[in-house]
Amino acid sequence: MNQSILILLGSLLIFSSSEAGAASREAVYGEGAMVSSRSTLASTVGVKIMKQGGNAIDGAVATAFALAVTYPSAGNIGGGGFAVIHFEDGKVITQDHREMAPGAAHRDMYLDDNGDEIKGLSRSTLLATGVPGSVEGLLGLLRDYGTNTRQEVMAPAIKLAEEGFLLDTDLAKHINTAGQALFKNPAAVKKFTIDGRALQAGDIWKQPDLAKTLRLISDKGRDGFYAGETADLIVREMQKGGGIISHDDLANYRAVYREPVHTNYRGYDVWTMGPPSSAVLVLQMLNMLEPFDLKAMGWGSSKAIHLMIEAERRAYADRAEHLGDSDFYDVPLDMLVDKKYAQSRFSDFDINKASSSEAIFAGAAPAQESMETTHFSVIDKSGTAVSFTTTLNSSYGNKMVVPGTGILLNNEMDDFSIKPNTANQFDLIGREANAIAPRKRMLSSMSPTIVSKDGVPVLVTGSPGGSTIITTTLQIILNVVSHEMPLEDAVSLPRFHHQWKPDRIIYEKYAFSPDTLRALEEMGHVGFSAWPYGRGIGDANSVLMKDGKLYGVKDPRADGVAVGF
Ligand code: DON
Repeated sequence: MNQSILILLGSLLIFSSSEAGAASREAVYGEGAMVSSRSTLASTVGVKIMKQGGNAIDGAVATAFALAVTYPSAGNIGGGGFAVIHFEDGKVITQDHREMAPGAAHRDMYLDDNGDEIKGLSRSTLLATGVPGSVEGLLGLLRDYGTNTRQEVMAPAIKLAEEGFLLDTDLAKHINTAGQALFKNPAAVKKFTIDGRALQAGDIWKQPDLAKTLRLISDKGRDGFYAGETADLIVREMQKGGGIISHDDLANYRAVYREPVHTNYRGYDVWTMGPPSSAVLVLQMLNMLEPFDLKAMGWGSSKAIHLMIEAERRAYADRAEHLGDSDFYDVPLDMLVDKKYAQSRFSDFDINKASSSEAIFAGAAPAQESMETTHFSVIDKSGTAVSFTTTLNSSYGNKMVVPGTGILLNNEMDDFSIKPNTANQFDLIGREANAIAPRKRMLSSMSPTIVSKDGVPVLVTGSPGGSTIITTTLQIILNVVSHEMPLEDAVSLPRFHHQWKPDRIIYEKYAFSPDTLRALEEMGHVGFSAWPYGRGIGDANSVLMKDGKLYGVKDPRADGVAVGF
């Protein structure tokens, strides 16, 4: 079956007559509710739940469980993530269900006797896995803010896993591309094959073990995952294969509500996730850029890009020094979000000249203060909005499935600074703030964000992409707020990224015109390199509310849809 027939067949099976969906760069319009996610089936599940009377939290929880079935490289129950929620009355909360280091973890656990990193240990082994937070997070959100029952929001995911779904070209290719690494693990082979052969587009793919685990969670709540049979299977696998997650670690895992971090950028309130996320960088960069009229400079102009690169350079230097789990390390958060601090960081900014990353250091904290992810955005007509990013870290995590459960394990431990100033898989470096400690959460770049005005959400956004998540989120906010673009342009226009170190600018095809590139080089910017992977940087599935109307955009850089009614 060719791809267009599959897509047509898929849409006929999926959308009802009153729903609209788009997988292209067009915006989808709705008045009732909207979900934009990486998976067509998951977006549809979320919208259906809200159509049946659920609120945006019910829709988000249902979407997230469905993603664990339909987008297994990043949708998960074996990983973790963050949610930022804006309520109808203007209140904003954030929930952290990031993975935690197991109790037996220690600072140098990935180093050999000489203090050198043992390659691969923090990424492709059972030691790479942090204690998963997704199930606890999703059930907590539903309990505290949902209106539906666990059984109602989980039923669609269970059905998709039990009865299977039509595999499209995108997913079949995605799984088989990961195949070599994935198929070293016998339980992964079982999950990702049918009768011993590779999955193909057009197959109906069932995941009976995952269906059983989801049913246990639906029946028993958190004990369906963190205790009983599922916990036994996880711990047994750990003990067999050199992992260290214990029954105790699972039983003690808790999601946490944290104060959102916030700034006001040109009259708009921007709310995002505090540590252990490093999304505060988005706010720092907005604060640095606020005094400049980016619109007058023009989108894509060398002046505007130069400014943004210099803001990125300074913010990422702060990330390496100051950011980590604030339950363990005294993150100078007030300083980082302070507008005066942002201006002081920019005091050496030269409008005509690039600075060198070697000459940029993190701002000093006052002495007394001490590849795969997925993002979806949900909004309902009341103005309740959920910005949700979840991950296993690398694509399919450590590529290991716990036998009998269908659960893919994360390799999130690699997000710790496993040795000071040693780059992780995203070339990010860190130090003391993000050193490993038992039960500590590893620093994340995931930046689910909501922009509001006068207490009403305007933009719900975020992205996968490791270190590029932060700059992707920044660019979308600037496109909407400063450049006043429609959402479809804000999301689809080409992006670029700088992260202090290495001193290089990664850019998508068409991001810089030849003139712009030349002008940036003349200012002294170095290390231009075209983005080498897939269809582009990030996958920022976003929704926007304007005059009470809802608009959803699926980032055209990856498949999936925005669906609304
Ligand atoms: O939390 C983080 O920052 C990383 N684990 C995210 C990984 C990621 O975005 C990979 N993919 N695109």
